[in-house]
Amino acid sequence: MRYLALEASPNPNGASSKLAKAFCDGLASKGDSFEILRLADMKIEFCTGCLACNKNGNCIQEDDMTRILAPKTVEADAIVLVGPVYWWGIGSIMKLYIDRFYAIGKKAFAGKSLYAIFVGAEGVEGIQYKLIKSQLEQICKYLKIDFKGFLPVQEAKLESGLENARALAL
Ligand SMILES: Cc1cc2nc3c(=O)[nH]c(=O)nc-3n(C[C@H](O)[C@H](O)[C@H](O)COP(=O)(O)O)c2cc1C
Repeated sequence: MRYLALEASPNPNGASSKLAKAFCDGLASKGDSFEILRLADMKIEFCTGCLACNKNGNCIQEDDMTRILAPKTVEADAIVLVGPVYWWGIGSIMKLYIDRFYAIGKKAFAGKSLYAIFVGAEGVEGIQYKLIKSQLEQICKYLKIDFKGFLPVQEAKLESGLENARALAL
């Protein structure tokens, strides 16, 4: 299995970064190949909704999404989304990436797996984690992705979150 882990915090040494590494430590321990990319270091334009991709099959934008992320997303067997909760939802850096799935097209996603780890200030019983999980479930249903696992993490309890992130990969 080839895993593509996308870490989507503006903080290079923040909780999301540590959680992505912990998940990938778990992958490494079972010999799976993976790559971690920091979305905040990449140039990802917002989807303009021009729908050119509907006509010509490709996004007309020239940025790191079309050059790097879209091909790597297509190649991966499993996508791992790791990022902060912002305003009860998926933070905007991650959302830029997800919005651009439109140009990749449904066919390319069918049969892939998805894991998601979201970290917030509130406890894991908070509504924000349920909202994000529901949104990802709908996206996976639409794209025929197998939603393998969702891990909510409270920033103040990061140590146990790191253990759980590692266990999620096993
Ligand atoms: C703009 C902004 C909005 C946030 N909104 C929420 C929220 O709705 N719920 C929550 O639990 N935490 C919220 N947080 C807290 C972050 O999710 C939390 O600090 C997270 O651990 C940051 O992850 P990072 O260290 O990977 O950047 C917010 C933080 C910021 C900066």
